[in-house]
Amino acid sequence: MSKIQIIGGTPLHGKIRISGAKNSLLPILTACLMVRGTIRLHDVPKLSDLTQMLHILAKLGCVINRQNQTIKIDVNELQNHIIDKEAAPKIRGSIFVMGAMLSRLGKVELPLPGGCAIGSRPIDLHLTLLRQIGVKCHYRQNTIIASYTPRRHRKPIILALDFPSVGATENIILATALGITGNVYYIHGAAKEPEIVDLCNFLNNCGAQINGAGTDTIIIHSVPSLHGTTYTPIPDRINTGSYLIAAAVTGGDVTLTNVIPTHHINLINKLKNIGAQITTTSDSINIIMNRRTPYSFNIHTAPYPGFPTDLQSQFCVLTTITKGCSTITENLFENRFRYVSELNKLGAQITIERNQARIKGVNKLTATLTPTLCPSSYQIPNPQICNGTNLTAHDLRGGVALVIAALAAQGTTTIEQADYIYRGHEDIVKDLRQLGANIVALDR
Ligand code: UD1
Repeated sequence: MSKIQIIGGTPLHGKIRISGAKNSLLPILTACLMVRGTIRLHDVPKLSDLTQMLHILAKLGCVINRQNQTIKIDVNELQNHIIDKEAAPKIRGSIFVMGAMLSRLGKVELPLPGGCAIGSRPIDLHLTLLRQIGVKCHYRQNTIIASYTPRRHRKPIILALDFPSVGATENIILATALGITGNVYYIHGAAKEPEIVDLCNFLNNCGAQINGAGTDTIIIHSVPSLHGTTYTPIPDRINTGSYLIAAAVTGGDVTLTNVIPTHHINLINKLKNIGAQITTTSDSINIIMNRRTPYSFNIHTAPYPGFPTDLQSQFCVLTTITKGCSTITENLFENRFRYVSELNKLGAQITIERNQARIKGVNKLTATLTPTLCPSSYQIPNPQICNGTNLTAHDLRGGVALVIAALAAQGTTTIEQADYIYRGHEDIVKDLRQLGANIVALDR
């Protein structure tokens, strides 16, 4: 497992470009399975989760070529319906393969999906919707075995989600977009995340007929085939949010380009409330944080457009150095506070009660001060001298929160199990060095 080492205390300054969104690309890549033809996707970062998904596609018969950030995928006949047993359990996004394979081939065998251990992550909502359109499925050991023979429906099929699950919404879109001409599906209670709009835009570019994405009712007119296209996914809004928070925590001045500011209204309002100056253009955000945050605050996570659960841990770092007491309530995943004990090692004062973190603000975060840090060049660190305070990442976003805390803390921090972070960041170390951070990747 790789490590990231940081000497904190330097405000971030400068400009970086945000690349394509992981959580858009995972369902978009699976949607490629439904296409006959060639797809070109631009701005695809080299993330370990996307690599696993590309591996799944290749094993099913897709021919994949990458040139820098562009991926070309040729899809003609799929060679089988059995999903790779090694790759699927490594990522949560493998669940989308189900909808795509059922609409394309009418059958799939999928090892249970994995992903970050942030909660129990059931798939009951996915299966309920799929069963409602006629999918038959059962489990054999740790594999879901499903089959589907679409029928012509004279009336629209009305489907409803009990909770706006992002993944379940995406899965039912994939299962119904390709099908029998004349079939119409209404999906009520759909999730409204920008990544869902992105998936639908991609599918519509391939010839699908999907309306209402971004609202809570999505209407799908099935089409009998989908053709190839060229597409650029939306920029990653979680990485954008993480870097905005990192700038705020370190008291920096950072501009992020290739972003969609309207995706961040909730976060931007919160950052402004605590004293950040934020200016936006149509595709950039600048944040300047000159002074220590004066007020404590309370947030609770909620489906979009509420405060994203994927930014909860990063935002918590900001509360640790805020005057007064703050609370953070996690409403989506029950296991998303594993980073808290690590933050407390830097002097944060956080206690957890059920799904709520209570944070008593401290003056500053502090890591172990190391006397002679990697003397002449930080490129060649000496772990004996430089380890400082050791923290351990337990999941992607919690790991990023530790990086942000380490950037703010005086002293040296070493973050273990940094591989979690690379699930969602191609090169977080390069990005942060570009913003002036004293950071290095070890054993990568
Ligand atoms: C997606 C994102 C993830 C983000 C989450 C919420 C991807 C690859 N991942 O995950 O980064 O944190 O949205 O914004 O896009 N639930 C059920 N039964 C189900 C499905 C979900 O009870 O069948 C529950 C979950 O346990 C959770 C809530 O619904 O409490 C939200 O989950 P969901 O929106 O489905 O998240 P994911 O699609 O897994």
